[in-house]
Amino acid sequence: MQLTQSSVGRKIIMAVTGIVLVGFVCVHLLGNSSMFVGADAINAYAQKLHSLGPFVWVFRLVMLVAFALHIAFGIQLTLENKAATPEANVQVKRLKTGFGAETMIVSGLVLLAFVIYHLLHFTVRVTNPEIYVPLGGDGMVDVYFMVVNGFKSVLPVIIYLAGMLFLFLHVSHGFQSLFQTLGLSNDKSLPVTGTVSKLVGFVLLLGYIAIPLSIVFGYIKL
Ligand code: HEM
Repeated sequence: MQLTQSSVGRKIIMAVTGIVLVGFVCVHLLGNSSMFVGADAINAYAQKLHSLGPFVWVFRLVMLVAFALHIAFGIQLTLENKAATPEANVQVKRLKTGFGAETMIVSGLVLLAFVIYHLLHFTVRVTNPEIYVPLGGDGMVDVYFMVVNGFKSVLPVIIYLAGMLFLFLHVSHGFQSLFQTLGLSNDKSLPVTGTVSKLVGFVLLLGYIAIPLSIVFGYIKL
């Protein structure tokens, strides 16, 4: 398929916003890992973030714009690719792609649903009133208590584990794809970027599922 100039531009924006989102997911995992250190560590980390005041809102705005552009262009490119696919009765030789590549739109939309649920669970704090207890006087909650109790019932644990599987699927193809879009990979380096991409997805998967699983198995407890 011939790529138009505007679809190349949109792919580049998807690659750049993809880097911003993967960067966030890595930093978020590092921050969340303080759950393994203890209640004081994660609560001090949350308090530090909240004390940044307006900077937090600037950061949130940048993330929201990156996320919205990534999703909008992802949907648009998928629809364009679909419209350009030859009739079903015409035999076409397909490029070798793979499950992750072919399901990017599905994994992306599932991740969007996951993030909405996650924000309602831990940021807007509306799904489980029993897990939000105040800490200090400035609207902060006890984040350690919230996360441990947030994974006490089965449904959230299943939602998070499933969400992380889709994160793995999405990142392990998307990371490699952004190297190609930005012209940073060729036939020779493609297997290397492919492996690095899967490795990044796998580390994120293991790191993120470690938190709910450690709570379920009693390694992290109140
Ligand atoms: C086990 C997995 C995860 C845990 C335990 C977790 C924990 C948390 C917590 C405690 C907060 C609220 C922080 C606060 O208000 O002080 C939060 C916010 C957030 N999380 Fe996660 N998270 C997980 C996975 C993810 C993933 C995979 C993504 C993205 C795909 C994500 C995206 C976000 C976003 C966008 C926010 C809002 C940040 C803000 O308030 O500006 N989280 N998370």
